[in-house]
Amino acid sequence: MENLSALLYLAAAVLFILSLKGLSSPVTALRGNLYGVLGMVIAVATTFMLMDKPVLLLIIAAIAAGGAIGAWKAKTVEMTGMPELVAAMHSLVGLSAVLIAVAAIFHTGVEHTPVQKVELFIGAFIGAITFTASVVAYGKLSGKFGAKAVNFSGQHLLNLVLALSMVGFGAAYFVSDSHAAFLMMLAIALVLGVTLIIPIGGADMPVVVSMLNSYSGWAAAGIGFTLNNPVLIIAGACVGSSGAILSYIMCKAMNRSIVSVLLGGFGAEAASGGSTASGPKNYKSGSADDAAFLMSNADSVIIVPGYGLAVSRAQHALQEFAQLLTEQGVTVRYAIHPVAGRMPGHMNVLLAEAEVPYEQVLEMEEINSDFSNTDVVLVIGANDVVNPAAQKDKQSPIYGMPILEAHKARTVIVVKRSMNAGYAGLDNELFYMDKTMMVFGDAKKVVEDLVKAVSH
Ligand code: TAP
Repeated sequence: MENLSALLYLAAAVLFILSLKGLSSPVTALRGNLYGVLGMVIAVATTFMLMDKPVLLLIIAAIAAGGAIGAWKAKTVEMTGMPELVAAMHSLVGLSAVLIAVAAIFHTGVEHTPVQKVELFIGAFIGAITFTASVVAYGKLSGKFGAKAVNFSGQHLLNLVLALSMVGFGAAYFVSDSHAAFLMMLAIALVLGVTLIIPIGGADMPVVVSMLNSYSGWAAAGIGFTLNNPVLIIAGACVGSSGAILSYIMCKAMNRSIVSVLLGGFGAEAASGGSTASGPKNYKSGSADDAAFLMSNADSVIIVPGYGLAVSRAQHALQEFAQLLTEQGVTVRYAIHPVAGRMPGHMNVLLAEAEVPYEQVLEMEEINSDFSNTDVVLVIGANDVVNPAAQKDKQSPIYGMPILEAHKARTVIVVKRSMNAGYAGLDNELFYMDKTMMVFGDAKKVVEDLVKAVSH
């Protein structure tokens, strides 16, 4: 039985790894998802098989209830609501790590070895921090709590004191087996989850969600050691390391270090306006017909999609428009910024949903040098990712963040509803350039008008 279960757990782990590999490209993502589901079914069935007297009814009822809520959420969630849903899910992973650790500690008649105690301590405190931090991240992303960074003097010192006391109570549990010390350690970790995340605001939230993803994986892996469950260790390590790698990639895309993200405060500066706004400035605006005329007479057009495209669900109309332009002999390509929208890969998923050919969709590094040879750039619902302040204004909170160099194209058309700022709360010099024409309106409505204008 032991050999069979080890083999089945190994098969599940291999499927999890294949799943991650599949999810790395839209072409193979569906297959990747199926591998993940299959791996999870094998892992759960094997665990059932190993249990002494499984309380099957209770477990099946819990799986059915959780599965039904999950399926309903997956069907109803808007793409723009994904980051907060992911944050909410991570909070549950953290909470389960805490509950498993508490159950293991209070389970009478079981002696924990010193190594198990360390694993329980680490799994429980990471789980507790993940739980409350994810709840706050969910609140910030969904607008239920203010998105701004909360800063006060002595904040880092407070976090340090909390962290040291948490470790102190953990050590007390280790030497004395005191349940009270373990619970104190957990209570402090829960508070630390809140105090660690409140100073982080605005544009750094995606990195935080990905970090929490990573934490929840390590918490699961820690608990996997306690339960002596290899598949939990492997799955936890996969989640932990992929979350950490994703955080690193996002930090690079925003030109921020992980440490500066975790120390927080970025959103506070950003929300207060940056340094580019200096009184009313002039900009040009035009109609969808004007924009369509410019684009249908161009040789090359680059489309820069952003968060507004996702909000208005304009991707299908945009694909139709791009196809019409292509049929008229215009070379059309899409430029994707790694943090455009509100989650990693947001724009790629939207464009794949609208069946935009993959070869037309280029990443920032692949296309950035082509903007200066391009006739028209159509910036649609994007703002921060094309803000030249990131390259030119040393005082700007986003200075150093790589951007799509839309400002280098011969003509720039920007579709958005107003002159309002984007996620980082900053004004954008691009909108006031002589070569820029603003087309105001909901992205979907404007693109539908563009389609009408070029179909005549
Ligand atoms: P943003 O800078 O947020 O700008 C989006 C623009 O879309 C806004 O200025 C808004 O202007 C416009 N808009 C909103 N609804 C619209 C609609 N229905 N129709 C037309 N326009 C609409 O977006 P971005 O350029 O994609 O940059 C992403 C930002 O989010 C970055 O700062 C990034 O760091 C941050 N962020 C990224 C992620 C990830 S991982 N992708 C996650 C969280 C945060 P109006 O209000 O004037 O219409």
